[in-house]
Amino acid sequence: MNDKNNKNSIIRLFNVSKRFGGKLALKNITLDIQQGEFIFISGPSGAGKSTLLKILYLADNIFEGQVLIDGMNLSRISSSKLPVLRRRFGIVFQDFKLIPTRTVYENIALVLEAAGKKTSFIKKKSCRY
Ligand SMILES: Nc1ncnc2c1ncn2[C@@H]1O[C@H](COP(=O)(O)OP(=O)(O)O)[C@@H](O)[C@H]1O
Ligand SMILES: [Mg+2]
Repeated sequence: MNDKNNKNSIIRLFNVSKRFGGKLALKNITLDIQQGEFIFISGPSGAGKSTLLKILYLADNIFEGQVLIDGMNLSRISSSKLPVLRRRFGIVFQDFKLIPTRTVYENIALVLEAAGKKTSFIKKKSCRY
């Protein structure tokens, strides 16, 4: 990826490595993801896909190298700012992670509420008129 494209990068990784004990799960990952880009991460079981995603959606901040999300260096942002950044991520987990005691609407609304959206916006987005 050249410098011209880098200015549109929303996620940037430089030489990211991740170890679990002595085991290297990610080795020197350098990656640029552009704003609006649609990408797939593929690989066999144990290749490190989930590990990489956890770093990208800020569930794991212990790694080597540098990660920039929208220009913010994850190694430098304060832990109090992390939840604010996390609210900007939408994640669809394989095992749903829905709250069983809430309705479908309430599950959707909860995420948007946490992101600080207005009730009118939440209703419109979740098709509840
Ligand atoms: N919490 C963990 N503790 C120890 N090893 C882990 C942990 N999570 C993942 N690993 C190891 O890191 C490697 C990559 O795992 P993972 O990212 O889950 O792969 P994938 O999602 O591609 O199947 C595997 O060798 C796995 O055993
Ligand atoms: Mg996985």
